[in-house]
Amino acid sequence: MIDKYYLTTAIDYVNGAPHIGHAYEKILTDIIARHYSLRTDNMFFLTGTDEHGIKIQKTAASQGITPKELCDMNSQKFKDAWKALDINYNKFIRTTDQDHEKIVQKIFQKLKDKGDIYKHEYEGWYCQGCECFLNPKDLTEDGLCPDHQKKPDIVKEENYFFKLSAYKNAIIKHIKEHPDFIVPSFRANEVLNQLEDIQDISVSRSKENVGWGIDILDDPNQSIYVWIDALSNYITAIGYDPDGSSEQFKQLWPVDVHVIGKDILKFHSIYWIGILMALDLPLPKHIFAHGWITIDETKMSKSLGNVVSPTSVLENFELQNADAFRYYMATSAPCGRDGNYSDIDFKEKVNAHLANSMGNLLNRSLSMLVKYFDGGIKEEFLNNRSKEAEGLLKTALGTIKIVENHFNHFEIQEAALEIIGLVDATNKFVTDNAPWTLAKEEKMTECGQVLATVLEVMCIISSLIYPYCPNIASDMAKQLCYDVMKKYDDITTDNIKVGKLISKEDIHPVFLRVDSELADKSEKVKA
Ligand code: MSP
Repeated sequence: MIDKYYLTTAIDYVNGAPHIGHAYEKILTDIIARHYSLRTDNMFFLTGTDEHGIKIQKTAASQGITPKELCDMNSQKFKDAWKALDINYNKFIRTTDQDHEKIVQKIFQKLKDKGDIYKHEYEGWYCQGCECFLNPKDLTEDGLCPDHQKKPDIVKEENYFFKLSAYKNAIIKHIKEHPDFIVPSFRANEVLNQLEDIQDISVSRSKENVGWGIDILDDPNQSIYVWIDALSNYITAIGYDPDGSSEQFKQLWPVDVHVIGKDILKFHSIYWIGILMALDLPLPKHIFAHGWITIDETKMSKSLGNVVSPTSVLENFELQNADAFRYYMATSAPCGRDGNYSDIDFKEKVNAHLANSMGNLLNRSLSMLVKYFDGGIKEEFLNNRSKEAEGLLKTALGTIKIVENHFNHFEIQEAALEIIGLVDATNKFVTDNAPWTLAKEEKMTECGQVLATVLEVMCIISSLIYPYCPNIASDMAKQLCYDVMKKYDDITTDNIKVGKLISKEDIHPVFLRVDSELADKSEKVKA
């Protein structure tokens, strides 16, 4: 068992409603969280919303409401979406929470008192989309922000600066000495390149230009700039305080993984690390940068009108819960690579994997158990198994270890494919051993042994698929009289017990095929 596991997502800007890209990250993180909840008794999953800054201020003004009203309204939309997607976080932080604001002020003061924050007159290119100053070298040939394709504003202000350059060498050393710090590792080189010409960073804006921010305690003309405010959520949420932190903080920090998108890796692996070093705090164990999700192979954008809301997918396909969508999103790309959402692909994949392969396997096996044995397991079904059956059970136990290892490296798609591989191997075992033929030939003990072996493996499959599809997994486990929350370390191959397992009326499909006609008719609800 692992002592503890603390993981976080990026906190989303609330200038709009959640889309499928935000959902992708929360689903990945929820899957990692649920996986680790089966490996430790002390798992903590943090998410939330990032609510300050010029972008929010301007959006609120354009809608004729106050920034706080905009934040309240949109933050709730994120919470509602995560509820619909079964994102089971332990805490939802909002950067407008008073507790958070107070500690951010103290953090700022501490760094200022230490001499790591100083005041400086500055002129630079500010991108509102990124909420940061850009290096002229990072702009496109036409002088645009490469991520937002917009011309940044020229901003001349007297701001506070964080002495990031003082930590440059230490950050480089840390990245080089910890090859698994940045996941996937191919991104570490990008970060090392960015570190080459890293300069001190602006950590405040003038109140006149950005009114919607946290005040600096002893300088009312300046407000704390979004990134130092936002990044600090990872420690304020669990009780960090420069004057004495909570027990929870002492238990959970350092974080095991920050799950973020590849676009904000620089802020996490350079800025945040510098700040933590300045605060004398231990560093995150991993930063996992996932790729981006496109829609039908096209980048999502408001101007193209192809922004998909995650809950619209559930509505369009009339899904009873989010399991299929979670499974599809989580398996849409290998670790750290870009993925894609398409209605057709969604339908095909979840029908093939969840309905045809996995759901059917359980349904068929339980139905045969009822047909041939009135749903009962006899002692002799569990003893003297064939070599093949023993081999399959061994493979199933081995799959737990393989899946754990994938999760250690944040290979969420890869782990799912391994689980589906076990489902396929089990289906093959059924075909090869044809329990219906054994029954016809009245080889009832052998027939019972085949079915009991399959059901045994199905218990393990329900545990493995649980992080991805918690509803399906719980339903599978219920029909198998199995405890799906059993820790991975405690899983054995004697889950199926002698006696009545199930009655005919209690057997039901765990996943209904996504109706193809219905899906074809579906009109995408725009976010
Ligand atoms: N507020 C900052 C993060 C601060 S973390 C201390 C921010 N917010 S965001 O709303 O723009 O993005 C939130 C997360 O969603 C980021 O990790 C970002 O990479 C992710 N995604 C936004 N669009 C995405 C896709 N199209 N695909 C996948 N993830 C994407 O950045």
